[in-house]
Amino acid sequence: MSPVSTADHGEVTVITIDNPPVNALSQSVREGLLNGIVDAEAADNCKAIIIQCIGWTFIAGADIKEFGKPLLEPYLPDVVARIDACEKPVIAALHGTALGGGFEVALGCHYRISLSRGAVGLPEVNLGLLPGASGTQRLPRLVGAEKAMDMMLSGKSVKAPAALKVGAVDRIVDDNLLEEAVAYASECVEQGPRRTSTMDVPEVDTAIFDATRQKIAPRTRGLISPEKIISAVALSTKVSFEEGCAKERAFFVECMASPQSAGLRHAFFAERGVARVPGIGKDTPKRELNKVAVIGAGTMGAGIAYNCLTSGMDVILLDNNDACLERGNQTIRGLYKSGVERGKIAESAMADGLGRFSTSQDYTDLADVDIVIEAVFESMAVKREVFAALDKVLKPGAVLATNTSTLSIDEIAAATDRSQDVIGLHFFSPAHIMRLLEIVRGADTSDEVIATSLALARRLHKIGVVVGNCFGFVGNRMLYSYGRENQLLLLEGAAPEFIDKTFSDWGMAMGPNAVGDLAGLDVGYKVRQERTDLPDDPRFYRIADMLAEQARYGQKTGKGMYLYEDGSRKPTPDPEVQAMIDAEAERLGVEQRDISAEEIVERCIYGLVVEGARILEDKIAIRSGDIDVVWMNGYGFPRYRGGPMHYADSVGLDKVYEKVCEFEERFGSIYWEPPELLKKLAATNGKFSDL
Ligand code: 3HC
Repeated sequence: MSPVSTADHGEVTVITIDNPPVNALSQSVREGLLNGIVDAEAADNCKAIIIQCIGWTFIAGADIKEFGKPLLEPYLPDVVARIDACEKPVIAALHGTALGGGFEVALGCHYRISLSRGAVGLPEVNLGLLPGASGTQRLPRLVGAEKAMDMMLSGKSVKAPAALKVGAVDRIVDDNLLEEAVAYASECVEQGPRRTSTMDVPEVDTAIFDATRQKIAPRTRGLISPEKIISAVALSTKVSFEEGCAKERAFFVECMASPQSAGLRHAFFAERGVARVPGIGKDTPKRELNKVAVIGAGTMGAGIAYNCLTSGMDVILLDNNDACLERGNQTIRGLYKSGVERGKIAESAMADGLGRFSTSQDYTDLADVDIVIEAVFESMAVKREVFAALDKVLKPGAVLATNTSTLSIDEIAAATDRSQDVIGLHFFSPAHIMRLLEIVRGADTSDEVIATSLALARRLHKIGVVVGNCFGFVGNRMLYSYGRENQLLLLEGAAPEFIDKTFSDWGMAMGPNAVGDLAGLDVGYKVRQERTDLPDDPRFYRIADMLAEQARYGQKTGKGMYLYEDGSRKPTPDPEVQAMIDAEAERLGVEQRDISAEEIVERCIYGLVVEGARILEDKIAIRSGDIDVVWMNGYGFPRYRGGPMHYADSVGLDKVYEKVCEFEERFGSIYWEPPELLKKLAATNGKFSDL
């Protein structure tokens, strides 16, 4: 059955699209829409046409699942052009969000009426694309080049009242959209079709195009589509509508074929895929979480507490140290205050949040909390002590979560008599900002507690990724390999600043040495001290260990791998560190040489991929896409490269395997023995994403 149906309302033909979940413009929708317009135009009793949708969004865009496959007719730009050309007025009735190709369909219509809760937007940039169905040429004609460019570059949608103000919609109503649209249709019949294609773009100072290029450069480093958006909108001001559309199409095809768009499309689906956890369904019971206790008032604990407060929960922050508790208290108040100052939080929301916040040093105050999130010092002994104490006071059914970043959930759970209620909730710093939440299931963790944790992640506006229990889980286990190669490269002669520049040029948010200084070199050092399974290799994290032993912890001590003079956060290379590295290389007999950026990237990124493959073999991650989500949202991996596993897939696993074998020959099997999974996939032309 076609997802598009037609019905007559007197002399108005209503075309209705019903294509759940979001009315994407799949081939059958495009075909139905086109036929609906052609038939209505030919029908004698039809004077005007309304396009509406069922469900909770208007059309949310082209069907992204069809991207990367051969396109099927009718093509969307042709459908939009046919709507535009219709001799009878066509009115888009927007009851919800109209996005991407959906908004372009509405722009092809002659009039747009929206419910006040509706919104319009062109988010293609988030998929490495630009609007490809004449949006770059139509929107500037309606709202001006500057506003149009702003909407396309930000990808953000604009609520109906604001859209009305700028002219993107013509009328808004609070209720009874169809009735109102039918009434509006008679006015439209009097005025006749009003085509965006024949409008002029309002006068604009063309200097805004270069000014915009400069303004966005720092945040669009390496991306193709933002430049194409600016060029396409600039064209709308100087060439004919038809020529502009043809250029837009060429840009769109180019962007669509780019690895960047493939990476971003993968990111889109992978981030939605993580919610699918085998054995956990909509019917898995969840526990209600209204009151949370956070144990440990350090930076992490305070960030988690603030995150819970802004999500509407009651929060008790507990610490056994007066000064620490007061610092945590002040951190939370400071975060609220800065939110208010920046206009992000209303004064009343701050008062409400702080009204739900209390501190304590007494475990018995936690008797009625629904969940505890422990964020104390990363030591198994300390964590077990905390969990044993919690076990004594918490009510039955409370969730016991640990924010450990590396330690075994099962060992922590064994300190309690309720291991089914124990789970890892690994937040990333700053906890109230970073979107990733690794949800670590222990051997006994109940499905109910996993489902509850996934719901908590959504409530905290985070992406929850369920992973298995092993040292470092997914993110930090892989980070060890990445960091290990960085450390070896330092000894082999690559300067810290060269490694960091290589990675920021490659698209990582920061290079590994600058990250180490930001996170604190003491943190990793203490974790390594607790480990009993480190490789027998004197080069392993040698430079990081030496810096930590000299109390060069990074930014917080004014020096680490780099110098941070006079409180600056800008890293300055330190000749003393380079001399130390060189001397240590000599002592260890490591020959120094010139190392290319290419080798740096391959060593570190394939180090990640090898560990990622082992993680898949060990079933620590459910899918390779989950690993990608962890790395894109927790470790600054460039979204447009789609995460390390997608990146490896895009390079070709046969090539990756070959390189890993080469590294095994050059550097030994200790780190580079190829995982069986990689070998198998390489031999069969497979991909991690096929698993
Ligand atoms: N195509 C195919 N599937 C889509 C889709 C699309 N455009 N948009 C959403 N979906 C799917 C999701 O994958 C998800 O599927 P799942 O349940 O199987 O995982 C389901 O719809 C629901 O999506 P969300 O989980 O994201 O639901 P939310 O309620 O959180 O958000 C939304 C809804 C705001 C519509 C959000 O899905 C969204 O932003 N979608 C993408 C919109 C977009 O980028 N449109 C532009 C597409 S490119 C284009 O139009 C090109 C044109 O210019 C030629």
